[in-house]
Amino acid sequence: MGGPTGEGKTSVTCLLTGGAGYIGGHVARRLQRAGHEVVILDDLSTGLPARVAGLPLIEASLVTDPDRLRQALTEHAVHGIVHLAAKKAVPESVERPLYYYEQNVQGTIALLQAAAKADVRWTLYSSSAAVYGSTGDGLVDEDHPTAPTSPYGETKLAAEWLVRRNAEAQGTAWASLRYFNVAGAADAILADRGVFNLLPIVLRALDRGEDIEVFGGDWPTPDGSCVRDYVHVEDLAEAHLTAVHALEDGRLAAGIFNVGRGEGVSVLAMLAAVERAVGSPVPYRIVARRPGDPASVVADAARIQRELGWRAHRDLADIVHSAWQAWAQPA
Ligand SMILES: NC(=O)c1ccc[n+]([C@@H]2O[C@H](COP(=O)([O-])OP(=O)(O)OC[C@H]3O[C@@H](n4cnc5c(N)ncnc54)[C@H](O)[C@@H]3O)[C@@H](O)[C@H]2O)c1
Repeated sequence: MGGPTGEGKTSVTCLLTGGAGYIGGHVARRLQRAGHEVVILDDLSTGLPARVAGLPLIEASLVTDPDRLRQALTEHAVHGIVHLAAKKAVPESVERPLYYYEQNVQGTIALLQAAAKADVRWTLYSSSAAVYGSTGDGLVDEDHPTAPTSPYGETKLAAEWLVRRNAEAQGTAWASLRYFNVAGAADAILADRGVFNLLPIVLRALDRGEDIEVFGGDWPTPDGSCVRDYVHVEDLAEAHLTAVHALEDGRLAAGIFNVGRGEGVSVLAMLAAVERAVGSPVPYRIVARRPGDPASVVADAARIQRELGWRAHRDLADIVHSAWQAWAQPA
């Protein structure tokens, strides 16, 4: 533990698994700017070292490098873990379920086993709205039944159970942030280059002069396209800082929190927002639905506001504009 952070909090050392990833890079920067010590552990399978330049980076896999993981926890006297490392491509998880269970579930077991042997006080887990599966029209709160429709969603839920059960057994604190659709970027270095989510897919198609494929135009939604809840990655990073402080000062012992804006945006509305940001038409065509896609998934984000005082401040235009700016610049 260090001294005061300048934000009136005590500086702590946090290990970020998957910290060189798109979200991890933003969280690392936010925690560091708040005065905390940040150590990154990442196998760089999709992560980029440039996102965490200047921070200690341990290039290691949760699954295959348990010794380096244990060593990192003790050498850096890690106080808390932000566990972001995971594979996240839903279609790939359908093709390679064993790989997803290995990376996301076995990786979490290895992390928790190593943490139990070190002096780790809390775990903050990166969960996903994918744990809910098909949710119907209304807003989804944290008590909504979990029924993931993909191996990816199953692994995120199983790992969330592991984090909770292990913390209960160890008497440590834990929280799970169930992110909805994360988008936008602080800058080009931290941008999402993975092209798994709607906005990067749209921006890449525009670059290549290709039509965007909209999966299904006959969903039971106002314009027939799927509806999701997009949250700016910088607001999400702020949610992590808020949760870290609550875990650290004992206000939060355990909890599951949705992180979204509570506003549904259809795929067609997103394409219109991109048109406004880039100032040119976004050509698209409607193709068949993708199996496993829910029609609408929008957060009820009241709990995190009520209990931790966090809410999103950036709107859809901010999200799209920042993603476009970051995409347009070379990293
Ligand atoms: N992007 C979203 O919209 C979204 C939504 C909900 C939840 N999430 C969750 O947020 C987390 C971060 O996602 P992201 O969008 O930044 O993805 P990302 O692929 O950019 O980041 C994942 C990071 O984890 C690392 N990693 C993967 N497997 C690893 C392993 N076995 N050992 C060590 N490092 C490993 C990768 O190299 C990468 O840096 C994931 O847990 C994901 O499930 C993301």
